[in-house]
Amino acid sequence: MAVRHFLSLMDLNPDELRQLLKRAGELKAMLRAGQIHEPLKNKVLAMLFEKSSTRTRVSFEAGMAQLGGHAMFLSPRDTQLGRGEPIEDTARVLSSMVDVIMVRTFEHEKITRLASHSRVPVINGLTDWLHPCQLLADMQTWLEHRGDMRGKTAAWIGDGNNMCNSYINAARQLDFKLNIACPEGYDPDIELLKLAGDRVRIVRDPRVACRDADLVITDVWASMGQEEEQKIRMQAFANYQVNESLMSLAKKNALFMHCLPAHRGEEVSADVIDGPQSVVWDEAENRLHAQKALLEFLLTQR
Ligand code: CP
Ligand code: NVA
Repeated sequence: MAVRHFLSLMDLNPDELRQLLKRAGELKAMLRAGQIHEPLKNKVLAMLFEKSSTRTRVSFEAGMAQLGGHAMFLSPRDTQLGRGEPIEDTARVLSSMVDVIMVRTFEHEKITRLASHSRVPVINGLTDWLHPCQLLADMQTWLEHRGDMRGKTAAWIGDGNNMCNSYINAARQLDFKLNIACPEGYDPDIELLKLAGDRVRIVRDPRVACRDADLVITDVWASMGQEEEQKIRMQAFANYQVNESLMSLAKKNALFMHCLPAHRGEEVSADVIDGPQSVVWDEAENRLHAQKALLEFLLTQR
């Protein structure tokens, strides 16, 4: 059977995605009940990080331990990858020794190249283009707080970045509407937008995007690798802060999400991220449960 990778949400079909979200909820309940579940005994995950991480690293490492397996942290600083060994060779070697590989890198093309030379599943732990693992956690969180998202409306406020692109895919796969408010010049991937059809639209005004939304999401204004653009981005996004006045336009029971790390006072005000509509801590915790469901799916073909 061909090896399954998870480089994008589109690598699962909608049924598999819904099943995985359901399984994530079950694994969460089992963990809370103290139930030992070790389907990945003796399995090894290699985690290759070319960018910083707190949540992704800890959730994958803890998740593998809980599933009975082992996770190994690798970075270009202390592997031959940092000294120019080709990604193709790295893929061949790693996949002859471990059972699954997670990668966080810059260019998306790098992870597709790695996957095409890997004998084992490759998971996208964030690229400049997509962050699908975060969307598993976000969708699990939305589902557990408000039930099925089909037909509901999410509002994305801010940069058309890797998270925004992943939300476009999620809207397509799980059939919800997505209003994107981003300044001109900071649009998400136009090709992904086209594929999503009229479920997803760009509106420039954050107030228009938020009107009657069930979920409001934002992310940092300068992503990893864009540190030098920080100043100019602060100006471009000055009117795109998610604050109480913006949240008041969304539905009364609207949720607020942010993948974290967050900058209070920039893309989100402290009263929103630390307020009653925010579910960012559940969202962060669900990285663990959702990725355990993903690992179980990829390694046991449940
Ligand atoms: N949200 C997220 O991916 O966090 P980390 O960068 O800490 O992994
Ligand atoms: N858009 C952010 C997400 C961090 C988890 C980045 O790429 O830095």
